[in-house]
Order: sequence, then C-alpha cells, then structure tokens
Amino acid sequence: MKFFVDTADTAAIRELHELGMVDGVTTNPSLIHKSGRNIKEVIAEIAEMVDGPVSAETVATDYETMVKEGHEVLKLGKGNIAVKVPLTWDGLRACKHLSSEGHMVNVTLCFSANQALLAAKAGATFISPFIGRLDDLNLDGMDLIADIREIYDNYGFKTQILAASIRSANHMSEAAKIGADVATAPPDVIKKMASHVLTDKGLAAFLDDWAKTGQSIL
Ligand code: G3P
Repeated sequence: MKFFVDTADTAAIRELHELGMVDGVTTNPSLIHKSGRNIKEVIAEIAEMVDGPVSAETVATDYETMVKEGHEVLKLGKGNIAVKVPLTWDGLRACKHLSSEGHMVNVTLCFSANQALLAAKAGATFISPFIGRLDDLNLDGMDLIADIREIYDNYGFKTQILAASIRSANHMSEAAKIGADVATAPPDVIKKMASHVLTDKGLAAFLDDWAKTGQSIL
C-alpha cells in the first residue's frame, strides 16, 4: 500500500519524506487554510520536494471553471500534480476531460460505492472514499473500502482506491488488509503506527537490565 501524507505542512512532509514514507501528498482547501500559505506557493514547494502525486484541489463548482483551475494547478508541478475534483456531476465531467488529456485526477468526497463506480467510468486515477467521516455518522467507513475493492476487481477498473479521512493507525492497517491501493493520513497518524505499549514496556525493561550490567557499547 502506498502512503500519501494528508497535509500542506511542508516541514512535516519533509520529515516523513526523509524516512522514505512519502509516496505522495494530498491537500484540500481546509488543509491549505490550516497551513496559512498561498496555495500556489505551497503546492509548488511540495511538488518540488516529492516525486509522487501531489493532489491539489479545485474550488469551482462548475465544470468549465474546474477544468480551468485544474490546468492552473497542473502548472505548479513537474508532471506530478493530481487535480482533485469533488464527486459531483460537474466534478465527474471535469475528471473525464482532464483524464482524457492524460492528467492524473483524484475524485474526492466519495461516500458510496456508486459514486466510486462513476468515478472509475470517468477515468479517475484515484478515488478518495472518506472513512472517518462515515465513522463519524456511526457507519463503517471500512465497509465502503471493501465494497469499492470488490467492484473495481470485478471489472478490472484501474482507478486506485485512495483511503482518505484516516483518523487512526488502526484505519491504516484495516485499509491495507482490504487492499486499498493508497492510504492518505495526517503525519501524526503515520507516526503513531510505530507505537505499541509493549514495545515501550519491553524497551524500558531491557534498558533497566542493561544498566545493571554496568557495560557500555560505545
Ligand atoms: O483526505 C481527506 C481528508 O483530509 C479529510 O479528512 O479528517 O477532515 O475527514 P477529515
């Protein structure tokens, strides 16, 4: 499973990138707002730093303007920008247009298997089902990932399932078990994947015993 980082915080991306943990980056208008940065500057900086796809979201709601915005954000990268469009009818039209021109398109705000089916038909490179926001409604977001996986595999759709709205390390392993192609998570969630209480406890016991030996390795 590929790891995308869901943030516009360039310092956090750089830290994970140096560890080889970043296969791509996703942003959205809320994350741009949180960064306090100009969208063009921050997307260009991220796209320069990482080689993988960097999703930059359009904010128009009509097809024509979405396509124009898509062409604008595409200029910010080195061929590694994925234009992010919402899963609306206009968004699907923009997806078809941009993907037919050979560009990567990430169709976002997906909450149903039918929406994912339409995105695949429209040539989406990535479909972004939002797990956490379904969980927030007492639904099981992971069921949606499983349904989309089954449908895409039934018909050999090439659209990659990009599990989004990931809120916990558990979401990451669940998405990987189901076979999501990509998971995008905030930096702190990716870091939390390294934590286990038994690792901490075991390390403390080892260090305790080591101190008793009076030895040193260096
Ligand atoms: O990738 C989409 C993601 O940013 C949404 O996450 O936590 O706002 O539902 P969240």
